[in-house]
Amino acid sequence: MSLRFHLIRSIAAGLVRMPSGLSMNSSRRSVLACATLCLALVGVEPYGAAQAATADSPHQSKQVAHPSNAQLADPSLEARVNRLLGKMTLEEKIGQLVQYNDTGDDSAVQTSGAPQAVNKPGVMDALNPVSATHVNAMQMAATGGLGSMLNTIGAARTNTYQHLAVDQSRLHIPLLFGADVIHGFRTIYPVPLGLAASFDPELVAAVSRMAAEEASTAGVRWFYSPMVDISRDPRWGRSVEGAGEDPYLGAAMARAYIRGYQGNDLSKPGNVAASVKHFAAYGAAEAGREYNTTDMSEITLRQVYLPPYQAAVEAGAATVMSAFNSLNGVPASANPFLLRKILRGEWGFNGFVVSDYTAVMELTHHGIALDPATATRKAITAGVDVDMMSHFYDTQLPGLIRSGQVPMDVVDEAVRRVLRVKFATGLFEHPYAEGVEVTAAVTGHRPLVRKAAEESFVLLQNDKLAGDAPLLPLSPASKRVALIGPLADDAEQMIGAWSGAPNLQDIITLRQALAERSRQVGGTLLYAKGTEIDDPSQAGFTAAVEVARAADVVILALGESSRMSGEAGSRTNLDLPGNQQQLLEAITATGKPVVLLIFSGRPLVLNWAARHIPAIMEVWFPGTEAGNAIANLLYGDVSPSGKLPMSFPRAVGQEPLYYNQFPTGRPPTGIDLSKPPTGDSHFFSRYIDLPNDALFPFGYGLSYSNFSYRDVKVSRTSIPLPQALANRSTPLLIATATVTNTGERTATEVVQCYVRNLGASIEQPVRSLKGFQRVILAPGESKQVSFPLGFNELSFFNLESSPTLEATHYTVWIGGSSLADQEAAFEVVSSTQKADRR
Ligand code: BGC
Repeated sequence: MSLRFHLIRSIAAGLVRMPSGLSMNSSRRSVLACATLCLALVGVEPYGAAQAATADSPHQSKQVAHPSNAQLADPSLEARVNRLLGKMTLEEKIGQLVQYNDTGDDSAVQTSGAPQAVNKPGVMDALNPVSATHVNAMQMAATGGLGSMLNTIGAARTNTYQHLAVDQSRLHIPLLFGADVIHGFRTIYPVPLGLAASFDPELVAAVSRMAAEEASTAGVRWFYSPMVDISRDPRWGRSVEGAGEDPYLGAAMARAYIRGYQGNDLSKPGNVAASVKHFAAYGAAEAGREYNTTDMSEITLRQVYLPPYQAAVEAGAATVMSAFNSLNGVPASANPFLLRKILRGEWGFNGFVVSDYTAVMELTHHGIALDPATATRKAITAGVDVDMMSHFYDTQLPGLIRSGQVPMDVVDEAVRRVLRVKFATGLFEHPYAEGVEVTAAVTGHRPLVRKAAEESFVLLQNDKLAGDAPLLPLSPASKRVALIGPLADDAEQMIGAWSGAPNLQDIITLRQALAERSRQVGGTLLYAKGTEIDDPSQAGFTAAVEVARAADVVILALGESSRMSGEAGSRTNLDLPGNQQQLLEAITATGKPVVLLIFSGRPLVLNWAARHIPAIMEVWFPGTEAGNAIANLLYGDVSPSGKLPMSFPRAVGQEPLYYNQFPTGRPPTGIDLSKPPTGDSHFFSRYIDLPNDALFPFGYGLSYSNFSYRDVKVSRTSIPLPQALANRSTPLLIATATVTNTGERTATEVVQCYVRNLGASIEQPVRSLKGFQRVILAPGESKQVSFPLGFNELSFFNLESSPTLEATHYTVWIGGSSLADQEAAFEVVSSTQKADRR
């Protein structure tokens, strides 16, 4: 994965630079102003209107009554699709279902008049040993044998390919260029896990919009993003690419990405089609090992893993990527239950499905296909429309159609889906990259990505020093600052996994930003790297300790490298890599106050640090404005407001660890879990060597101010069941709380609402997030915060896999983390019980 990004980066480096200081019109960055909470309450009947083709008739995909994307369902668009389809040969149809990366070889393009292009044969072969077949993408584009391309960027390169397709192929069908723009194209914002810590969907929509505008100038009209896989095990490296462990937060973020990328009209300049990935349940890989199998009940699938995908599809996502993993024994890229029944049937998805990279070929490795023909048949009949890189659809489909093993209408339906997206994105009218190409970080975008980074940081600890004020924000009296650590001055590490196409010289490191601060305040910045990220050598320790001794305060920048998370970045150990823990201990031994900054793509185990270091802040991988954003928080220009989207464990052995767990019959209530069990405390659901809970739980994060909560109430305490079942689109009650800023500075608090349902026929989690809001409060200021709760928030899945409500009890908590302790209660009552009918 990272290799592919290095490829992108080097391709990008060859592109024409635009003058520095380019600034985009800020109105083009404007975000659709629809509050997430309102969206969450918009009436949807996702499960009722299912007209699914069943697994028995997997190729009979029918249009459902409510197609997910209205633009793709437009009758005039459909007429254009059908007219074009009517003219296509079988080879041209198959061509639309084939995707390769930049494997072009212009010398082999036979047709005269082909635009000149750089000769780049074998790119794919070098990068992915599992797809070593060489193809000539240029030749294929020129002859209608290619429908889309991945990770081919830059106006020059995309236009070259596009001219081949548009000018030379018989039907002039343009190519769709997709790329892994995951957290920015040239101007980079925090990795998605960090963005999720902001609990700020409007911000996520704004940065996504910005990335779409930048990348579309380079010809990219399709993002392989958002990744909405729920991740409850930080051993899985791709935790960094999603919104963490919670389905409600994940769904809110998923909607925001789609809004940002696609706007409300796919054809508008600056909008790109999204690809929601990896469908489905990829994040539940057993033991956190990349590409590993997943196995779960249908209730867990629907209640925990599917909501973010569904939210994205309902928000209009134009495409979906089928995952590598198998789910309950059936690989996701040949899974009619997922792709036909749920995605198309129940959710009315009317875009197209692209396989993940060589996922069709990998069906043979999964052992459900003994040959390429079977793999191809299984994938396309299950609902995978486009084959990314497998070299199977182009080689196998002609024979399968001729022999009748794949019906022609299956291919026609897949081609229709692709053409719909191509027409809707306006590709036929505007096939080429337009506007001034963005080839460097955009100055006008820096404030937005800086804000995103600031909101993503989570202050985990901020102890008072010897009865004084907390260590952070730094006191102006701390003039001599020692900056130590392998992440203090490494631009490449600031961008994290799936880094888009940034120029490293655009990135502000912490050392650069703090040097500038020192100049401004007349201080001194001392610097020592101390050690590498993952290296046993302690050669740099002495210099680092000397620097620390000479300073008033030490800032330690430790953590993972970008490559330790992301695809194929699974770890069995969640400690600081290399000898960074030893460096941390050596610096702490100097007795100087230490601020520990953790750069990581996942929760790490920070027990020692939590016991010994006064101030700890998780900063993920912050992006282009990394240094400036961190400095703004360290010096108190901005108060931290991020909250954890994933629980930080005490030990890797607790994983998977998440707050939204199910109860057990032996909860260790009222027992001191910090001590090894005695006879009295032995036979409970507990560990004998560690407490059960997280070191830092989901939703947790400190501020430079303090907040208090009171008056947690519900607007009604009993709701008749028939009313609750009949009303699926408006709130059934409102939960409220008053939050007060009891500190001395204006700050933002993420107020969170959790619900527990007790008494249902199916066991329900001990608590589930059902609302959140960012609230800005001046010192002493109070605000009442409201959370509407309706069918969507209160329902659960029954054994028939339908969302339902029963006459049960509910507890509601409102507070500043998943440990919120102020509660109210209400019940849903059957018609025979007495109900409050307000
Ligand atoms: C990853 C996808 C990515 C694709 C294309 C795959 O290896 O799993 O997330 O979009 O490559 O680069």
